[in-house]
Parts: sequence; C-alpha cells; structure tokens
Amino acid sequence: MAMEYESNNWIWDGVYYCPHLFGGLMLTAALLDVGIFHKKKREKKRIRVYMDGCFDLMHYGHANALRQAKALGDELVVGVVSDEEIIANKGPPVLPMEERLALVSGLKWVDQVIANAPYAITEQFMNSLFNEHKIDYIIHGDDPCLLPDGTDAYALAKKAGRYKQIKRTEGVSSTDIVGRILSSVKDTKGGGDSNSKLLNGDSGERKLSQKGQISQFLPTSRRIVQFSNGQGPGPNARIVYIDGAFDLFHAGHVEILKKARQLGDFLLVGIHTDQIVSEHRGMPYPVMHLHERSLSVLACRYVDEVIIGAPWEVTKDMITTFNISLVVHGTIAESNPLFDGETDPYAVPKSMGIFRLLESPKSITTSSVAQRIVANHEAYKKRNAKKVKSEKKYYEEKTYVAGE
Ligand SMILES: *[C@@H]1O[C@H](CO)[C@@H](O)[C@H](O)[C@H]1NC(C)=O
Repeated sequence: MAMEYESNNWIWDGVYYCPHLFGGLMLTAALLDVGIFHKKKREKKRIRVYMDGCFDLMHYGHANALRQAKALGDELVVGVVSDEEIIANKGPPVLPMEERLALVSGLKWVDQVIANAPYAITEQFMNSLFNEHKIDYIIHGDDPCLLPDGTDAYALAKKAGRYKQIKRTEGVSSTDIVGRILSSVKDTKGGGDSNSKLLNGDSGERKLSQKGQISQFLPTSRRIVQFSNGQGPGPNARIVYIDGAFDLFHAGHVEILKKARQLGDFLLVGIHTDQIVSEHRGMPYPVMHLHERSLSVLACRYVDEVIIGAPWEVTKDMITTFNISLVVHGTIAESNPLFDGETDPYAVPKSMGIFRLLESPKSITTSSVAQRIVANHEAYKKRNAKKVKSEKKYYEEKTYVAGE
C-alpha cells in the first residue's frame, strides 16, 4: 500500500499546488470514474509508524526510542501495554495506565496513543494496526522480542515488509532505575526505617553514587541537540520560568509543565544540579542525574528550553538575562522538613510581582513514585534480579552498532 501511494505522489503533489486545476480534475474523475482518482489524496501520503511498550517509569531511553521511531515516518502512534498484561507478564507496574498514558502523550514526538495494547503483539492486533489504524510500519528496538513459544513476535510484520528496527538507547532501563532505588534502601539499612527515609529524605551522606548502581549513561552533546527544539523565543514572546529537580519524571511533572506553558509563549525550565537536589531533598535523591533529568524534561512537548544546572534561587540577573515575565511553582512540591526556614528561593520574583503559585493538578511526587517501588519491594526485587541477568548478558555481549 505504502509503495503504491508513493509512486503516485507526484500526481497528487501537482494537484495540491495548483488549486485552480483541482476542480477540473475532480470533475474528470467523477465523469470518467478512473480508478486512480479514487484515492483523493490532496497531499503526500503520510507514513504512519507504530511502536509499543510498557513505559513504566518512563525515562529518556523510552523517549529516545520514540524519537527514532518518529524519524522513520511522519506520524507516530504509540501502543501502551495494559496494566493487566504487565501484571501477567512482569508483575505489577509502578505506574498505572492513566499515568503511563499521560507520560507518553506528553512526549513531543508522539502523535497518537493506543491504550491497553497487548504485551506480545498478536496476529489479530497486528491486522487491526494495519487495517484500522492505517499503520505502515511497526518499529521495534534491536533487542530480540520472543513470544512465549520462542518465535519472533514480529515475524509476521517482517514477512510483510512492514517492520523497521531502531537502535537501543544505552545506559538506562526501568530495571536500572528500580535497582537504583532499591539499592539506596539497602544502603540506608540500620539507620531506622528505610521506607520513611525514602519518603522524607535524609540529609545524611549520599551513598547512592558511590555504592549503588552506577549509571552507564554517557551524555553527549549530540543527544541533547536531538532532544532540543533548536529555537529561541520569538519577538515579544512572554517567557515563563519554572524550576525544580524533575527527578523520576512523572505524570505530575507533565501536567504542571503544561499549565506553566499555557501562561506564556515560551517555557524555560531550570533543572537543579545534583548537588542542590541532594542538599535539599537528602539521600537518595536525585535518583536520576542532572543530564538524565534534563533529557526527560526536554522530551516533553510543553518545554521550549532547559537550563542544565539551574541555581536554587531565582535571581534578578536570571530574570533579566532570559527576559522572564513570570516565575511559577507548583503547590505540590517536595520540601525537606530539615530545611524549613531557609531563604525563599522566589523572594526576588515575588518582590517584582511576577511570581505565581500554580495549583498542581496531580498529587504525584518523586518520593511517592519511589515509595510505590519500595512498598512492592519483594516483587520488584525478584523481577529485577531476572532482568538484571539479561541486561548484564546484553552488556557483556554487546558490539558496536551504527546508527543514532
Ligand atoms: C521581553 O518580554 C516581554 C513580555 O513580557 C516582551 O513584551 C518584550 O518584547 C521582550 N523583550 C524582548 C527584547 O524580546
């Protein structure tokens, strides 16, 4: 189908650009009933690509996969696997369907989402993708995806010539993130109740980076460019500023960024440094490093630009440098009780009358997400042990693959 359209494109491109001819052509088509004119394509056929996933604890690796998938077509449709299917195949998801949908829909490369996709792609589902959802290509990472019977889940799409592959993003996986959180709990053992520590933060020594899992992520300037919009604010743009840790990027972040963006023309997001986050939130935060957090925020469709390593206090100089019109902050934000009474980071914008508190639409916080993982400790540990093995094997056997 796709090929057929492509070979006829020149006809329709011509028609599209000559509107005065169009009426005449339409009349001809109606009179002669020429088969080819039944495809009344006013413009080039848009290639629709499909990619699915669980997107539990969504991270920049997911975002990067979807960015690459989008580059293989014009419209990206994303299937989000149902809670039931995740429970049956991997154990309970950290994030329920609603939150995973909000996260995926918030990505700037995603055009459409399909809720409750199956875990392993069935023949029936594949046919509905091709016929009802008008998908041209199914996209998957270069790691093999086997059905329970050991056969290739994408064999059918491959045979039909409607399968394309992308390169796996190095350095992060949901397994790795769960591991970081669980190992930080392990590290604080003996110092009281670990659950309440994770919930409240701990101003003690931050051991995660030394003892826990070390991120394999190597931030490159190219990746940052790929995620960027590459555009500054237009003339007379009203610039809104919001800052924070944006650790374990979640649905609450997407909602507050959307709200903030609606208050102006350009949303500038300040991402606090690892040091600031750990000073203010305590151990084990941040779970994700500055560059990881920056990529997650940049991938969000409501964000125009980020400051990678923003200061704790919003200064007069910053406001002038970036021509900030409004500084906003969510009502649901984490604060470390130990740091109550310190100087107000928003004192300057408040004194200038350009500060606004935004009602946070969702009550999710980074620690509430981490808390869900800790609460399900045993289940995630088991699930992770299995995955860690296969991840380890992957890294041991991995070879250089060209591509993005
Ligand atoms: C600075 O922002 C204001 C909007 O608050 C805008 O009117 C003005 O044109 C901006 N200045 C420049 C130089 O873009």
